[in-house]
Amino acid sequence: MSRILQKGITPASSALVFGFVWLIMPFAANAQVNSQRSREDRFVDSVLARLTLEEKLGQLNQVSGLGNPTGPGGTPAGYEQIRRGQVGSFLNVVGADTTRKIQRIAVEESRSRIPLLFALDVIHGYRTTFPVPLGEAASWNPAAAERSARVAATEAAANGLHWTFAPMVDIARDPRWGRIVEGAGEDPYLGNAFAAARVRGFQGSNLRSIDAIAATAKHFAAYGAAEGGRDYDIADVPERTLREVYLPPFHAAVCAGVATFMSSFNEIAGVPAHANPHLTSEILRREWGFDGMVVSDWTGVAELLQHGVGADRASVGKLALEAGVDMDMVSEIYRQDLPALVKSGRISQATVDAAVRRVLRLKYRLGLFDNPYRSSDATRERAMTLTSDNRAAAREVARQTLVLLKNDNRTLPLRKDLGTIAVIGSLAADTVATLGNWVGMGRASDGSSVLDGIRRAVSQQTNVLYARGAAPTSDDTSGIAEAVNVARRAQAVVLVIGEIPDMSAEAASRASIELPGAQLQLAKAVQATGVPTVVVLMNGRPLALQWLHDNVPAILETWFAGLDAGPAIADVLFGDYNPGGKLPVTFPRATGQIPIYYNHKHTGRPPDKQNKYTSKYLDIPWTPLYPFGHGLSYTTFTISAPRLDKTTLRSGDSLRVDVDVTNSGSVAGDEVVQLYVRDDVASLTRPVKELRGFRRLSLKPGETNTVRFVLSHHDLAFYDAAMRRVAEPGRFTVYVGSSSDAVKEARFELTTPDARPVLVPERCTAMK
Ligand code: NOJ
Repeated sequence: MSRILQKGITPASSALVFGFVWLIMPFAANAQVNSQRSREDRFVDSVLARLTLEEKLGQLNQVSGLGNPTGPGGTPAGYEQIRRGQVGSFLNVVGADTTRKIQRIAVEESRSRIPLLFALDVIHGYRTTFPVPLGEAASWNPAAAERSARVAATEAAANGLHWTFAPMVDIARDPRWGRIVEGAGEDPYLGNAFAAARVRGFQGSNLRSIDAIAATAKHFAAYGAAEGGRDYDIADVPERTLREVYLPPFHAAVCAGVATFMSSFNEIAGVPAHANPHLTSEILRREWGFDGMVVSDWTGVAELLQHGVGADRASVGKLALEAGVDMDMVSEIYRQDLPALVKSGRISQATVDAAVRRVLRLKYRLGLFDNPYRSSDATRERAMTLTSDNRAAAREVARQTLVLLKNDNRTLPLRKDLGTIAVIGSLAADTVATLGNWVGMGRASDGSSVLDGIRRAVSQQTNVLYARGAAPTSDDTSGIAEAVNVARRAQAVVLVIGEIPDMSAEAASRASIELPGAQLQLAKAVQATGVPTVVVLMNGRPLALQWLHDNVPAILETWFAGLDAGPAIADVLFGDYNPGGKLPVTFPRATGQIPIYYNHKHTGRPPDKQNKYTSKYLDIPWTPLYPFGHGLSYTTFTISAPRLDKTTLRSGDSLRVDVDVTNSGSVAGDEVVQLYVRDDVASLTRPVKELRGFRRLSLKPGETNTVRFVLSHHDLAFYDAAMRRVAEPGRFTVYVGSSSDAVKEARFELTTPDARPVLVPERCTAMK
């Protein structure tokens, strides 16, 4: 605006100019997109036209390279297969030189000369390992996850890769399910923000740029609802819950421009996701307008046989392809078993062509037809991998993910000149554990343990003793006596306990979420010494921590914080960084409380201590140990009641909610202000509250900031009895605070024309 004014345009005419620009901009932008699309379509069609049926099905075939298989049945593809045009993509092949060599065979020695796509699970870093995704979500700072994904993409794209199978955007309400560690937790609103941020981070602003890789929204859909928390098990989810809880982050990923989707292993209400046209064709492609590619999960097409929806390989291949799964990861069913079906007319050419087009389009969008070696430059690989900037980013993000669960009597931060500190627990000295699961090419030798971090942080006069004590993987108690001796010699104990990374992630469900091995015994023995004890937790899921909470003064949740976990955790232990993370998932008191999540529905008999016949347990309280959104700080914050700019919100209009946040303590720190909404009366039951806004902000001591949230009927919509997405007129309550226990509230009324529900179609612009 100021530039235009300098050129002598009056404010009135500048408004006109702006108005004009706004008017023509969408058309101009659309015209540009359309012409790009038609160029892309023409190119893709021209490539498609010269392919044989076998070559087309070869494009739909993804095979695994040697090493790092993530399931049964991976077959290393021979070079001959590539020459014959039978491979469209590799997973688990990395490295600039290796991929260049293989790519050369595809583009110089095969008849079709179509470049290969190289893919890997780059989940939280390629070589520079960032915190696990659940940890990153605990930062409540999507920009941190975007930065982490950007660094990962930059490294991966310099190491031969074009495509990552991330982000996992599955909502998980059951901490027994090990893959909860790969997502953003239990809440769709937080999940939306992190899904979009990660897609932006991986893909950058343009897929063609040399540091971008294609992202994958997975696992479509409701994989996180696995029955009993057992990986791969069924998800018995009604359509309303599917759309309100499990699908939103996938839609957010589409809105952020995600290039690919991956189907999930589970079935939903009787239909396996790999053979589910309702999900893949109707919702994803028709409703959401996704024009990218869908890949199966590992042997997901073949597993349709086990699901019992087809009698032979060809039948299940047909089911998957016709449902909209374009690429077959390692089942080799499309390539081997579908040619006969197409030749006999049981699968149409058009169905095959549509899938092949989507694969070719991705290759085109990545610029592979222009430069098949875009990611295969050894000089770039050396320059871009594990740089000091990347490491610094990993440490900074790690600090933001740490959650102070409890801190009585200001036990933390510890003084650096304490005399003697005892560091106890096998995890304390473990540089594999801090990396977490799915580490890409991350190496333990790049990492640092908590013990390293503490040793480096304390003053020279401070003595750091170490005892292993006990490990998550064994019931062996023989090290506990030594740990007690070491503890007795110290002024403070840092007890590092939790899980090893293999206890969460894929195929790592646990029936009990208690501390594994003899670690609780170790904790009890150490606490009995009377030496002030700080617990540092490492884990990929919520754990049941009732005893620790009742007996230990300070607990710091660190998840698996990545390669610089050691220094990042030490920064917090000694007060060089004030923790500001918040839980992205509820911590139960006991396994038996699962599922427990903050945005549950009302019951007709809400829990009431005085009344036996209400919804609760006899043996433990009904409340969680730590609620969703919980996290403490070394300073204190006061959060004002919400101030609404109106008490009546007309549909189509917006409502401002202002909240003052003051750092009322004596050190600088971060607070995450959270805003929740409740629909007080509706035609169907609604959750007790739902997150509809959050902001992490840093405040100096004494500083106050006003956070403004803007609500509209989009934030109030739900699926009615007829499965239309509507906002109903009536009263709503807004809550603000520092966790989902937020109690400061205000009310407003939504009004609609003729006091009827208004239709609120899902749309990207509604994403904040
Ligand atoms: C199986 C997992 O479910 C999926 O998330 C992963 O991307 C593939 N294996 C490939 O490794």
